[in-house]
Amino acid sequence: MSDAEKDRSWATTLRNGGCGNLDAAWAGREVRLVGWVHRRRDLGGVVFVHLRDRTGLVQLAFGPDWTPTGALESGTSLNPEDVIAVSGEVVRRPDDAVNPNMATGEIEVRVTTIERLAVSEPLPILVAVPPEEELPSEELRLRHRVLDLRRPEMLRHFEVRHLATNAARKALSEEGFLEVETPFLTRRTPEGARDFLVPSRVQRGKFYALPQSPQLYKQLLMVAGFDRYFQVARCLRDEDLRADRQPEFTQVDAEMSFVAEDDVFGVVERMLHRMFSDALGLEISVPFPRMTYAEAMESYGTDKPDLRIPSRLQDFTETLTGIGFGIFDSAAAAGGRVRGVVVKGGAEASRARLEAADGTARANGARGALWLKRTPDGWSGAPAKVLDEAAIGALAEAHGVEQGDLVLLVAGLDTETSAPLDALRREFADELPAGRSGIDRWVWITDFPLFEPDPDSGEPTPSHHPFTMAVDATPDDILADPLGIKSRAYDLVLNGTELLSGSIRCHDAALQRAILQVLGLDAAQIEARFGFLLEAFRYGVPPHGGFALGLDRLVAMMVDVSSIREVIAFPKTTAARGLMEDAPSPLEAEELEELGLRLTDG
Ligand code: AMO
Repeated sequence: MSDAEKDRSWATTLRNGGCGNLDAAWAGREVRLVGWVHRRRDLGGVVFVHLRDRTGLVQLAFGPDWTPTGALESGTSLNPEDVIAVSGEVVRRPDDAVNPNMATGEIEVRVTTIERLAVSEPLPILVAVPPEEELPSEELRLRHRVLDLRRPEMLRHFEVRHLATNAARKALSEEGFLEVETPFLTRRTPEGARDFLVPSRVQRGKFYALPQSPQLYKQLLMVAGFDRYFQVARCLRDEDLRADRQPEFTQVDAEMSFVAEDDVFGVVERMLHRMFSDALGLEISVPFPRMTYAEAMESYGTDKPDLRIPSRLQDFTETLTGIGFGIFDSAAAAGGRVRGVVVKGGAEASRARLEAADGTARANGARGALWLKRTPDGWSGAPAKVLDEAAIGALAEAHGVEQGDLVLLVAGLDTETSAPLDALRREFADELPAGRSGIDRWVWITDFPLFEPDPDSGEPTPSHHPFTMAVDATPDDILADPLGIKSRAYDLVLNGTELLSGSIRCHDAALQRAILQVLGLDAAQIEARFGFLLEAFRYGVPPHGGFALGLDRLVAMMVDVSSIREVIAFPKTTAARGLMEDAPSPLEAEELEELGLRLTDG
């Protein structure tokens, strides 16, 4: 607990202090406390109760000598999670009863009066989960979220979240950013997911879309001359959910006029520095290093490289083609390469482990993975059989393969080898003791392509979103070779997680039309969907750019939990359901009628 927190007065009409703030300095004073019964222990004639409130825990002692006879049977009749009000004297505990694991462990409160303010029924899930015990299933925790949130660990997540959000607000406000709220009931904003739609009662047959992000509004605020905007913005996206994705999530969203990448990066770095400092007391090292998209894809096979893992992907085409190994030769002949990763100390991997690695490669779009091992007994693995001693020596030299190492190889087009090698690199790092350094690694990824081919159709889709500036391209260039154009988009990655994304925007109406046209929209559709943006561009549009930071993801990493559901008070399940409030729920026939909706079967 910070000093500021400790100094805050928690005194109200019902209490004169907070449970967790009491210490030896309070000894001899009368306190009035209110809170929940966390845990209760009966030790013969004395009953101890841990009382919990927002500030923490304190031990209450009920003994025959100081608690009035019969007062709630001296504490024995209390249920876990009853709400009680007590008064009593703060006393130092005898030396042998001091609890160094408890912030208030030097003292206890000898209860002189007690009143039960609310009874708790038997609990469906425990609040005071003993440290050695596992938590209940996530389904139970989400169904009984109020009790789950009472656990002090959960409270800590939200304290960190609050401090981080507050720090972002302060950092941006001090740099002249204006906090502006943008609409929830809006038109579609394409960010690559499906929209949640809201039927209009007044305008029957018409629908609002909930914003996937404030993207277009923040750009319009730049045209309006606000210069610097931010918002702690809720975004809504109907997409496949997983541990780091929720249908509703929060961005620290910002936009600036008259800027280039360096300006935006500086704002982000100063803001994040403040967030870590205020929320965790950590001084992170800024500025962050930068890496181009091309280098990230070449060295790591992904645009979100986890730089804590030292290994990089390498090109083995030269050393492994023309040696009489058909798979490699045919991959090269088809315009592909042989790429691989050297797993330091990986040579102990069993045959079963290597078969599983082959499975990982296949699951990520490769036709399989091959391997080479260098052990004290020599080299093994299918390609080793066709390599003579000189060739294998050259390979070891060129690629840094030492005794005890494993080489995982995937052949094919880069689009077929990147994802499997990225997955294998991360998988083996998880399993090896020295697979990953414990030091946080931030990196800016820059120079993204404007479009990438859709994995299924091959059609160009925006690598960020369609409002990103193209580099050195005319509208005709964009239409002629969309996949060949670079953009001014960037991402910020921490330990392999994309935390933030942004770009310098397209502020040229003709370029913007060409980008939208590549996405298959005709002139009428462009007008209908984005006419308001393009119209604003006609009256003096400043060059501008910005970013959005995924706040849930950042806080999850700050408190070291694997799912963003742990840092969202009332999250949805991976099936997008609210288990506590049972959402979504069906509508009554009259409600559907009023909205002009009819459900089809199925
Ligand atoms: P983008 O879609 O990349 O960019 O989102 C920015 C950041 O928001 C987080 N994020 C999510 N977090 C939780 N659940 C989700 N479903 C989810 N989707 C995204 C990520 C991501 O990096 N308008 C642009 C930003 C801009 O260009 O300024 C945008 O929304 O951490």
